[in-house]
Amino acid sequence: MPSDCPIHSDMRSPTGCPISARAAGFNPFSGAYQQDPGDALDWARRDEPVFYAPELGYWVVTRYEDVKAIFRDNILFSPAIALEKITPAGPEAMAILQRYGFAMQRTMVNEDEPDHMARRRLLLDDFLPENLAKHEPALRALTRQYMDRFIDRGHADLVADIFYEIPLTVALHFLGVPEDGAAELREFAVAHTLNTWGRPTPEEQLKISENVGRFWQTANRILDGMIANPDGEGWMYETVRQHNKHPEIVTESYMRSMMMAILAAAHETTSNATANAFWTLLNNRDAWEELCENPALIPSAVEECLRVAGSIVAWRRIATRATTVGGVDIPEGGKLLIVQASANKDAQHWENADSFDIYRENAVEHLTFGYGAHQCMGKNIGRMEMRIFLEEFTRRLPHMRLVSGQTFRNLPNVSFRGPEKLLVEWDPAQNPERADPAILSQGLSFEIGAPVRDNILRRVTVSAITADSEGVKRFTLSDPRGRALPPFSPGAHIDLVSGGFRRKYSLCGRPGADYEIAILREAEGRGGSAHFHDALKVGDSVQIAGPRNHFRLDESAGHYVLIAGGIGITPILAMADQLKSLGKPYVLHVCARTRAHVPMLTRLTDHMDALRLHLSDQGSRLDLASLTIEPGTLVYACGPERLLAALDARASTWPEGALHYEYFSAAAGMLDPEKEHAFTAELRDSGLSVEVRADQTLYDALRAAGVDISEDCGEGLCGTCEARVLEGEIDHRDRVLTQSERAGGDRIMTCCSRAKGSRIALSL
Ligand code: HEM
Repeated sequence: MPSDCPIHSDMRSPTGCPISARAAGFNPFSGAYQQDPGDALDWARRDEPVFYAPELGYWVVTRYEDVKAIFRDNILFSPAIALEKITPAGPEAMAILQRYGFAMQRTMVNEDEPDHMARRRLLLDDFLPENLAKHEPALRALTRQYMDRFIDRGHADLVADIFYEIPLTVALHFLGVPEDGAAELREFAVAHTLNTWGRPTPEEQLKISENVGRFWQTANRILDGMIANPDGEGWMYETVRQHNKHPEIVTESYMRSMMMAILAAAHETTSNATANAFWTLLNNRDAWEELCENPALIPSAVEECLRVAGSIVAWRRIATRATTVGGVDIPEGGKLLIVQASANKDAQHWENADSFDIYRENAVEHLTFGYGAHQCMGKNIGRMEMRIFLEEFTRRLPHMRLVSGQTFRNLPNVSFRGPEKLLVEWDPAQNPERADPAILSQGLSFEIGAPVRDNILRRVTVSAITADSEGVKRFTLSDPRGRALPPFSPGAHIDLVSGGFRRKYSLCGRPGADYEIAILREAEGRGGSAHFHDALKVGDSVQIAGPRNHFRLDESAGHYVLIAGGIGITPILAMADQLKSLGKPYVLHVCARTRAHVPMLTRLTDHMDALRLHLSDQGSRLDLASLTIEPGTLVYACGPERLLAALDARASTWPEGALHYEYFSAAAGMLDPEKEHAFTAELRDSGLSVEVRADQTLYDALRAAGVDISEDCGEGLCGTCEARVLEGEIDHRDRVLTQSERAGGDRIMTCCSRAKGSRIALSL
């Protein structure tokens, strides 16, 4: 008798645990999961992050940390079932496949170690960033040529008119596969997707098996041609040549299976991801318009689209021994559906997880490409295609809109996601190239790999400039469309970019209001502050990066001492405001030459009870020697280098970790190859060995090897490029880590720090 209870069902998982009603009703082949798998699993992320789905016979994993941990450990969680039919084929369908000699075995994505990594290493070169740039000109020319076909028509189905065929052409070209017969590949690919990840009825299975069988034979015919004449250009020719050299690593069975699997992996993934990205952006018109105005944002927008609307939404692993995931017991042989689309919306990992934000600086941490040893080898090809499509469309068709009333229809399956159609329209009379043909030949190129954080810049308007203390002006920055700027926390800064200068300034305004920064004009400086003082006018448009916070206020302490030297008051004031609003006890020391040199004096009146003003001309200097700090008190300081150095020395007698300060520049960042030595970075999660030359930073070597890592300051100040160290001694050159963190020996800032010896092992 089925249970009527809305919470519990009558069923039990293979480990004997009761199955909730929602888990029992989970069906990924229709309904909410097909519309948006990330949103459809919101309940699970909250209440039941790992659950057994009897409909599938899989444990479904929904939280970011769990999904990533499973990707990271490909020994405990084998990928062997990644391409298994999720709906087993009936005997008739199997007979059809046999008739075609279908013998799909391990490829790359479902191979276990050590065979997988030996193979991946041999076949990786063509995917390295330095070897991908050569594909860009042909890709751009093809995009322009396809757009020419419909640009004057005023409407298109972007899937049929461009996004299906170009990724297919690029994939064939990259693989070295001849283009004839491309037309029937679409039918084949649909069959392969439904066969592997769908729930076809027994009748549908028969037709699908026919197509899969024909796909298998076509793929093998192409491969036979390559084996007969292995000198051609393309990754599959390279595979054949490596097979000839290392037949025990690049086996014949691998080649035959891979030939079919890669045609789908290299093509459908990118077609779908592109269509999803355009769907998302055109439904978020403000974001689309911002890309049209500022195409430098395209790489970060692509990552955010891959986060909220990826084309691979779930992947599979099998437990090789009994274990637990997220506290739930998984038996040996337990099958796991790890839902990347859900991890990508996990509020425990992402701030404002549900909002679509093209400025999100950590969007690259999405799991749409997987992670670790099997992470997508073609991720940078996919990115390159998506970026060029967006660059050409935002320039040539900025006025394009979605045809209203259309619904998102996907091929019903658990893993691949993309709309069958994407209908758009525009007024050809408004095409910018009619008024200005010069735009046709323009085009912005992007560095291959993860987005460069420096380029994630927001346009703002200078809405007020106020003279402040001696040499200091305050600038108010507002959104040009009058929208609220993103919230920031005390201690956060922005990069102000204008007139060829880029400088960091702390946000010192009130929460919720427009941004406010205070700039000291440094006559002896490198010109940035002088330019901002002298050239900027109210109404000017400037760019900012951030807000970013590398100087966070820990709000859990019982008491605080805040110390500001001169213009260093800016982050400290935001902290004082916050402590006051939290009702926390604090003392605010402000040091300056004279009263006229105290920035933001009027704002300081908000903190009269806590304020201790130390003015050199009145002989009331801050006496550090008498400053004692009790356990439970935190000290936050910002100011000139000599003040911070003195505090650093004084802090040696204070409780460990009491002092926090912020530098705006560091001695690190400059490499002298004469004084450096080369070393090897062993990446344990990805199974790679990266050689770091003496004239290269660890960060640069990692990016060149295709690792998605980002940096912000490049000087060891911010902590963005941190990696976890598993083995090897570190030569620390950053200013982020405390003495005890350094002593821990397990964290490295890759932009400046290096290995002391010849090897270092990282969790990357
Ligand atoms: C593996 C997604 C484009 C080639 C994978 C995996 C995912 C994925 C989820 C499995 C990762 C894992 O198990 O950790 C995507 C997406 C793409 C894309 C979302 C486009 C936006 C491409 C392209 C190519 C490609 C264009 C080739 C030209 C591969 C290969 C693997 C793989 C060879 C197997 C790697 C291994 O197991 O070592 N991809 N992919 N992918 N992808 Fe992609």
